[in-house]
Amino acid sequence: MEKWETVRSENLGYLLWGNVGSGKSYFAGCIANALMEREIPVCMTNFATILNHLFYGSENRNAYIVRLCSYPLLILDDFGMERGTEYGLEQVYNVIDSRYISKKPLIATTNLTPEQLKNPEDVPHARIYGRLLEMCTPVRFTGDDFRKAAAQQKMERLKKLME
Ligand SMILES: Nc1ncnc2c1ncn2[C@@H]1O[C@H](COP(=O)(O)OP(=O)(O)O)[C@@H](O)[C@H]1O
Ligand SMILES: [Mg+2]
Repeated sequence: MEKWETVRSENLGYLLWGNVGSGKSYFAGCIANALMEREIPVCMTNFATILNHLFYGSENRNAYIVRLCSYPLLILDDFGMERGTEYGLEQVYNVIDSRYISKKPLIATTNLTPEQLKNPEDVPHARIYGRLLEMCTPVRFTGDDFRKAAAQQKMERLKKLME
């Protein structure tokens, strides 16, 4: 993360995409930890949490979004899992657009493919995905599901114990 200054000044975000369990969130978490060790504030969250805050939180909605955008790095984990209501989509747009205007880097992890993001189903999605793709360069995570391997190991372990 010696390159952080460049990433910040040139606003170079990432879109970490790929299969479930391929290590996208883990990788994003590593970046967050490395920066926080250098006392650079990072917010790693997801839209389920953000929408909860906006809907039930006591904080003023705009103040909350302004606060999210004040972090030098914002990480949105599991982007694209919050589809559904018009209200939700509007808030997702508000957060993405505010971050876009702030010109600060954003990292998103998603199970959506760049192809899906480039072919949005309607205008509200197009407004969100278009900004995301401009801010974030897609990086593909290939490889197997780490979780399956972990589950397999646990099963082997239990088998041994029960012998
Ligand atoms: N590089 C890695 N080395 C070891 N374990 C990893 C690595 N990347 C991910 N894992 C583990 O694999 C599991 C799935 O990773 P995760 O980042 O949650 O996947 P994704 O976000 O792509 O669905 C987690 O338990 C995580 O701790
Ligand atoms: Mg994940």
